[in-house]
Amino acid sequence: MANTTMANMNTNSNSKEESKKMDEREAIPLLTPYKMGNFNLSHRIVLAPLSRSRSYNFIPQPHAALYYSQRTTKGGFLIGEASGVSDTAQGYPNTPGIWTREQLEAWKPIVSAVHEKGGIFFCQLRHAGRVSNYEYQPDGKAPISSTDKRLRKDIANNKATADKYPPPRRVRADEIPKLVNDFVIAAKNAMESGF
Ligand SMILES: Cc1cc2nc3c(=O)[nH]c(=O)nc-3n(C[C@H](O)[C@H](O)[C@H](O)COP(=O)(O)O)c2cc1C
Repeated sequence: MANTTMANMNTNSNSKEESKKMDEREAIPLLTPYKMGNFNLSHRIVLAPLSRSRSYNFIPQPHAALYYSQRTTKGGFLIGEASGVSDTAQGYPNTPGIWTREQLEAWKPIVSAVHEKGGIFFCQLRHAGRVSNYEYQPDGKAPISSTDKRLRKDIANNKATADKYPPPRRVRADEIPKLVNDFVIAAKNAMESGF
């Protein structure tokens, strides 16, 4: 009887040993946990920021809650599509912003949907600079940039383009604090949205 018990114990510890070895052998690095600053990610697959051009009037739409929650896993890391920090920051059609009350309220249910599934969600803040056009700018003015030289290559395919992007207006040094502050306000808005 004692021998049988001993034999069972040996079998159990052997099989535990075996399954530990199997786990070690089969651990897929991408699926192992990672500590990213204060965040404990349960795996290393990240949703890259992807502008979707579905945020009409620069306002995130309710369907984005479904889109992002479908891509959420518990402990998974997602970076949201770039969000404009001010009314001069936009350069792509129907991309979201995060500089108005309406925009930040619209982000709330989207961020909640990700958090409900245990995801870690960052807001990407963007100013498009000279990668913009009159149609995205307040009063149809020139986009603003650090330079007054127009971009001569298409951002999408790096091919030369004659006039896709107009010559920007080079900002004055005294305008820079306001631009920095736009990022500060946008970051605060993102936090208020739940990011
Ligand atoms: C449709 C589309 C939208 C994108 N939107 C953004 C964006 O909003 N912000 C950003 O940083 N990158 C954006 N990217 C770049 C992707 O995040 C990038 O392609 C991804 O990280 C993969 O990197 P790779 O293209 O260098 O392989 C976009 C790419 C595509 C194809």
